[in-house]
Amino acid sequence: MTDEIYRASTTAPVNIAVIKYWGKRDPKLNLPTNSSLSVTLSQSDLRTHTTASCSPSYPSFDSLLLNGSEQDVSGARTQACFRELRSLRRNLEGQDASLPKLSTLPLKIVSENNFPTAAGLASSAAGFAALVRAIANLYELPSSPTDLSRIARQGSGSACRSLFGGYVGWEQGKEVDGSDSVAFQVAPESHWPEMRAIILVVSAAKKGVSSTTGMQTTVATSSLFAARASDTVPKRMKQMQEAIQIKDFETFGKITMMDSNSFHATCLDTYPPIFYLNDVSRAAIKMVEAINAAAGRIIAAYTFDAGPNAVIYYLQENEAQVAGLFKAFMGEKDGWKGTRGDAIQASEEAFGK
Ligand code: DP6
Repeated sequence: MTDEIYRASTTAPVNIAVIKYWGKRDPKLNLPTNSSLSVTLSQSDLRTHTTASCSPSYPSFDSLLLNGSEQDVSGARTQACFRELRSLRRNLEGQDASLPKLSTLPLKIVSENNFPTAAGLASSAAGFAALVRAIANLYELPSSPTDLSRIARQGSGSACRSLFGGYVGWEQGKEVDGSDSVAFQVAPESHWPEMRAIILVVSAAKKGVSSTTGMQTTVATSSLFAARASDTVPKRMKQMQEAIQIKDFETFGKITMMDSNSFHATCLDTYPPIFYLNDVSRAAIKMVEAINAAAGRIIAAYTFDAGPNAVIYYLQENEAQVAGLFKAFMGEKDGWKGTRGDAIQASEEAFGK
């Protein structure tokens, strides 16, 4: 092998769950206690761009640069992704001796997010999805998105859903080795292209309690949690998939809001309690309720991850009544425009509190 640099790039978009993953039955493999479902934003929206490269000329250790700052790659999750991908590459090299032995070379990963990291905007999802696919491309692995979702899941659970576009489920699976805990596409983006999301960036600061820590404490202490995982979510998974198939926004919206409420209820029921929503989040909920009341039906649906930022789903035909109204309240300054979703800054003052 010469001192050649081998390189591949990819992007992976953020996904925003409408049925939340919260709880692990195996924290090492990131195997969840319930299935979940999300909408993947477009490539031109919130996304991570990642270049993976390897070369005999590189220093002898793996490295990861995120938005210009060096990250620790020694963590078990990143290591699991590297290990799995290297082992697949090693298999290929074993079958074809003419292939360069890339599996033995140090990896250099360079990632850029076009949104604030750890703001509750699922940066780890896009991040690990892009990392896994960039390395798979670099290694020229014949892996399907399903195979890659199994690997990305070990980086961050929600990352497995960012390997598919459109409407994406994550089947919790039953196997102890996680082989059946993979993402699947419910419908492509083109099936229901009118879906839009507006993101109200309430805070771009790093979240208080990380998802990983938060969900472990919920599993250990919340009595509401068991009913959510065993009963509420399985029913909603079915209803939500049907709603997407028949493009029924009212059902889609209602389940989205109820599932966000259910997830945040288990957070409050955690001991000590976890508060992800703040006054601005609650003002956004009230505004969505007012919009729906004025329309006489559900045309807007809020959802919140492990942070105060609101994501509001709506259909293109209701742009003026939903996104237009929020933008009129907040002003569009410091905003960010995408094709399937815009982001705007939200403050308490803007809600006229
Ligand atoms: C509230 O995927 O960030 O956004 O597997 O520990 O990395 P880890 O957790 P992560 O959790 C996401 C939780 C959520 C809901 C969701 O995206 O389904």
